Amino acid sequence: MAMIEVKNLKFSYDQEIMAINDVSFSIQEGSYTTIIGRNGSGKSTIAKLIAGLLEKKSGEILIDGLPLDEEHLTAIRRTIGIVFQNPDNQFIGSTVQDDIAFGLENHCVPQAEMDGIIQKFASKVKMSEYLNSEPTHLSGGQKQRVAIAGVLAMQPKILIFDEATSMLDPQGKAEIKKVIMDLHKESHLTILSITHDIDEVVSSDDVLVMNNGKIAMFGSPEDVFKDEDRLRRMDLDIPFSMKMEDALLKHGVRLHRNISMERMVEELCQYHSKA
Ligand SMILES: Nc1ncnc2c1ncn2[C@@H]1O[C@H](COP(=O)(O)OP(=O)(O)O)[C@@H](O)[C@H]1O
Ligand SMILES: [Mg+2]
Repeated sequence: MAMIEVKNLKFSYDQEIMAINDVSFSIQEGSYTTIIGRNGSGKSTIAKLIAGLLEKKSGEILIDGLPLDEEHLTAIRRTIGIVFQNPDNQFIGSTVQDDIAFGLENHCVPQAEMDGIIQKFASKVKMSEYLNSEPTHLSGGQKQRVAIAGVLAMQPKILIFDEATSMLDPQGKAEIKKVIMDLHKESHLTILSITHDIDEVVSSDDVLVMNNGKIAMFGSPEDVFKDEDRLRRMDLDIPFSMKMEDALLKHGVRLHRNISMERMVEELCQYHSKA
């Protein structure tokens, strides 16, 4: 079943440029979709339109079958959690515990239930030991994990990450990537992740490629990366395994086109043992 259905969506911040120009796609419940595209291609705008943070000019957005209109806006917003780029702009509590509690308080969750919910989601992102810590004592990765706990506590159906790892150091990036992967494995959440991390893209179910406010490509990572030249023309990176294949070919080693590192290594070992 489609969790997100977008039909002929258009949006502009001002009259001149169409930031989103007649976009249609549908995203299945429980799937993990990455969104890639060069800066300014409309990725964040799409995310904000879906989350009900911007109002469309025309077209249709359906979330879990309900149209995202004035009547359903409040209800739909409750079902979508969004995590942005900058960990500092998202930390609003004075401690980790307060921060996770923030959304729950706004939704009038009784105090008696609150502690249990906070502990459950702090544990999910491995921040249980930091409940009384202040943001100044946390790394960027830890702050983003708290932000994720805060949105998970609201029990959303859809989780959107808008370059949630891009301001983090390598360790922070790895931590958040693992949280996203584990959520995909263990929960039935529909996940949308705007990312520049090609390894993350390779492990997602579907890839949506944005270019100039339009969808340039949408499909499995295997299908999308088949058209390497087109991706390069949009300044997009290709998986390390594919670059490696190209480099090997220059040395006369021809492997099958493959984006999985494991399969590539297997084939390389076979090649090596034959040589
Ligand atoms: N707040 C804004 N006001 C005016 N134009 C904007 C605003 N935010 C984004 N844009 C423009 O809309 C287009 C899409 O931007 P955005 O969705 O942020 O792209 P991306 O997230 O892919 O980098 C760009 O041309 C950008 O300059
Ligand atoms: Mg953006």
